[in-house]
Amino acid sequence: MKLEGVYKSFEEVEVLQNFHLTVKDKEITCILGPSGCGKSTLLNIMAGIIKPDVGTLREHKKRIGYVFQEDRLLPWKTAYENIQLVNKKASSSQLQSLIDMVGLTHFENKYPHQLSGGMRQRCSIARAFNFQTEILLMDEPFKSLDYDLRMNMVEALIDIWHKWNNAVVFVTHEIDEAILLGNKIVVLAKNPCRVEATVNIDVPQKQRSLEDRELINVRTKLINMLSKEKETSTYKSA
Ligand SMILES: Nc1ncnc2c1ncn2[C@@H]1O[C@H](COP(=O)(O)OP(=O)(O)O)[C@@H](O)[C@H]1O
Ligand SMILES: [Mg+2]
Repeated sequence: MKLEGVYKSFEEVEVLQNFHLTVKDKEITCILGPSGCGKSTLLNIMAGIIKPDVGTLREHKKRIGYVFQEDRLLPWKTAYENIQLVNKKASSSQLQSLIDMVGLTHFENKYPHQLSGGMRQRCSIARAFNFQTEILLMDEPFKSLDYDLRMNMVEALIDIWHKWNNAVVFVTHEIDEAILLGNKIVVLAKNPCRVEATVNIDVPQKQRSLEDRELINVRTKLINMLSKEKETSTYKSA
């Protein structure tokens, strides 16, 4: 999927200006950027939910999965039914293994209001996994989870992505998530949203650990870029 020369503004606020991005098949592309920089807007354009003012979306995928920041479950369906409804062909053992993978074993027959925020989000992630898509867009999906759970979900995502081999666009502002997941990390700067840098990581995801020298180097590089970005935006608004 490709975005070429995309512009988008909301009233007088210019969010995206001449924005270019290529998302390769079979890769995880992480979008890392400060809050309010236009990450959700970008995903909404990729999903076809909002139209850019100018610019084109090429090689558009038909089967798009989207995990929103909030869970968007149907309140009158159980966790199991919410996951099942996007793919009626999934067998009960496939559904059960998805439920186990996101840590919802024994909670499958509960309704959303009986689950914690983190559990509801994990249920919506299992639902997106069950909707076997060509491309999966994820908007800060692990934000409501604590650190250990987030790291488990990162592992679960890598497992499922290996099975499917589809494209994933993963939006986050957590550096550790980006360096564990991304084949490519796109660092965004704001006002207007633009690509500050692109970092490729060649180590296969299954072999990565946060203690690896290469990942430590990438992390340092990303921290420097993001703090530089913070300084410039503070300076601009001062
Ligand atoms: N529907 C909208 N109407 C007006 N302004 C919006 C709308 N959606 C987003 N914005 C503005 O666009 C900017 C980028 O928002 P968003 O894409 O949600 O950023 P992020 O996901 O990186 O936090 C923000 O300044 C936000 O207030
Ligand atoms: Mg957002």
